[in-house]
Amino acid sequence: MTATLFVKANNRPSDQSVSVRLYDAFLNSYRESHPNEPMVELDLYAERLPYLGADMIHANYKSAQKIALTLKEKTLSDIANKHLQQFIAADKVVIAFPLWNLTVPAVLHTYLDYMHRPGQTFKYTEEGHVGLLSDKKVALLNARGGVYPEGDPGEMAVSFVQNQLRFFGITDIQTVIVEGHHQFPERSEAIIAAGINKAREVAKTF
Ligand SMILES: Cc1cc2nc3c(=O)[nH]c(=O)nc-3n(C[C@H](O)[C@H](O)[C@H](O)COP(=O)(O)O)c2cc1C
Repeated sequence: MTATLFVKANNRPSDQSVSVRLYDAFLNSYRESHPNEPMVELDLYAERLPYLGADMIHANYKSAQKIALTLKEKTLSDIANKHLQQFIAADKVVIAFPLWNLTVPAVLHTYLDYMHRPGQTFKYTEEGHVGLLSDKKVALLNARGGVYPEGDPGEMAVSFVQNQLRFFGITDIQTVIVEGHHQFPERSEAIIAAGINKAREVAKTF
């Protein structure tokens, strides 16, 4: 049994953040319902992940080709590889994130950048790319102040993460989305409470 990976992409305190409250509710419920299962938490803001750019791309390329790395390149490639291998190893992954400015926090984008590794998370074939992580199960916990109908091109957080995961062959994706608590302030508390309750329920059978 591998440790279930809990990824948090929001560094706001829980009394100010709905997605952190979803994360805490899911995690506590999961802990109660799966007392013997190992868990590991990853706070993306605490990790200070370096952006994908020339140095990281070069370091990852040299690492994959088994070319000797400079100390700086090794530092970068070790960070990306650590997160890549942890993600690959986890049978179950929970990711909590807000909708900010129509998309995900940059730190989650950077984390997912690290996951794109041919031969490890996907492969190229003559028919196109094939994802290699089809056995993985994922839960996405998201909060967004407005309401976004399914398929709304203005919503680029849940849809973005889902597309990334599907590229890696992951199809078992559950979502808990709290939405509209800014749009409908008079119902805000009830909307958030329903989402937290759903997070607890989904965690029990995850
Ligand atoms: C910087 C920032 C940007 C936001 N952008 C959007 C947005 O584009 N669309 C939206 O519906 N709500 C937006 N909101 C509202 C958030 O989606 C809402 O506060 C949600 O609860 C975010 O999750 P959090 O509470 O965990 O931070 C934004 C809030 C912040 C602080």
